[in-house]
Parts: sequence; C-alpha cells; structure tokens
Amino acid sequence: MSDLLNPGESLRPIVILISGTGSNMAAIVEAAGKEDWARRYGARVAAVISNRPEASGLTLAQSLKVPTEVLDHRAFESREAFDAALMLRIDAHAPALVLLAGFMRILTSGFVAHYAGRLLNIHPSLLPAFPGLNTHRRAIDAGCRVAGATVHQVTAELDHGEILAQGVVPILPGDTEAMLAARVLTQEHRIYTDAVRVWLRQRSRP
Ligand code: GAR
Repeated sequence: MSDLLNPGESLRPIVILISGTGSNMAAIVEAAGKEDWARRYGARVAAVISNRPEASGLTLAQSLKVPTEVLDHRAFESREAFDAALMLRIDAHAPALVLLAGFMRILTSGFVAHYAGRLLNIHPSLLPAFPGLNTHRRAIDAGCRVAGATVHQVTAELDHGEILAQGVVPILPGDTEAMLAARVLTQEHRIYTDAVRVWLRQRSRP
C-alpha cells in the first residue's frame, strides 16, 4: 500500500504553538522537509504562532521559511478572551493538527474541546510523574534514576491525556537541572517528530 499523496490533493495544515526557543518546532519542520511529509502524508507546517513577541523560536521558524504570527497574551483581559482570539488565528489555517511545542499557557476547556483529537503536547517528564512545572528539578530531588519526556493528547486536565510516545534518559550523578534538561531535549525532538509522523500516517488517505 502506498502512503503517497495523489497529485492535486490539498495539504493538511499543521499549526505549531510556541512560547520560547522553538527547538521542538524546528525538529518537526526539519523532519517535514527532509522526509517530504507533503508528498508522503499530505501535510505541511502552515504557521508557527507565539504568545510571546520576544520568543527566539519566531526567528528560527522564519529561517526555516515557515510563516509566523504573534498573539501576545498580555493584551487580553482574561484567559478566555486570549484563547478565543487564538482559536480564530489557528482556525484561519484550517488545521488538521495543532502542536503545543513549549507553549507555556494553561488552556481553557473550550479551547481543548475545540481541538479534541487533533491537539498534541510535549511535556518534559515521564508522565504521569511530574505534571506541571520544574520537572527536572523535581526528578533530581526525588532521587529518580531516569527522566524523560512524553508526547500526549491534550485533554482538559493539565498534562494528562493519552500517552503517544515517551523517551527516557538516565539521571547521572552531579546532574544539574540544565544538564538534565539538555539531555531530555534531544529525546524530545526525536519522540515528538516520531509521534507526529505516526499520527499523520494513521490518518493518511488509503
Ligand atoms: C521543552 O522542554 C518542552 O518539553 C517544555 O518546554 C520546552 C520547550 O523547548 N514544555 C513544557 O514545559 C510544557 N509544559 P523548545 O521551545 O526548545 O521546544
């Protein structure tokens, strides 16, 4: 069976949300280009949207030729108002898939319900351990021998939802938070790209 797209079929847009350096975003954009996801899975990264104008991931996305947008959450009076505006921005691209890639916002239940089944997140711990913030510090302090990252479906409960992929790294004697974060990040790039590829392949047209 071929998973190649028939010529002329429209591409399924992917929208990636970031707040910071955007290394997970870049890993996905680069894999999409190298592996020709347009032809294989009929998918393309349509836009990168940041809630922080100063996010360095924006220039990184531009260097990868992906259109970028900024929607500064500080301009909105409430979480609901920001999420409603963000949904309008995202939906302008009619996305098949929305990826949270270091998007440091708690989402409203309305937002999550709107993208149910097509909203993925990467979290820097081996969920269900250490949901929330400061995951690497907490893993070191707890005396864990391993740490890692999880790609999961996003549901209304923070850092819950079906687990799609996990990557594990050792915690080494003398590890600082930064050392562990860097080791985990290399796994993040691999597992997020893998999970998106599987998601697209499973939903490819026959
Ligand atoms: C990543 O480690 C990601 O797992 C984490 O932020 C970092 C973003 O890095 N996400 C969260 O903590 C979400 N709660 P990146 O901007 O270089 O992809």
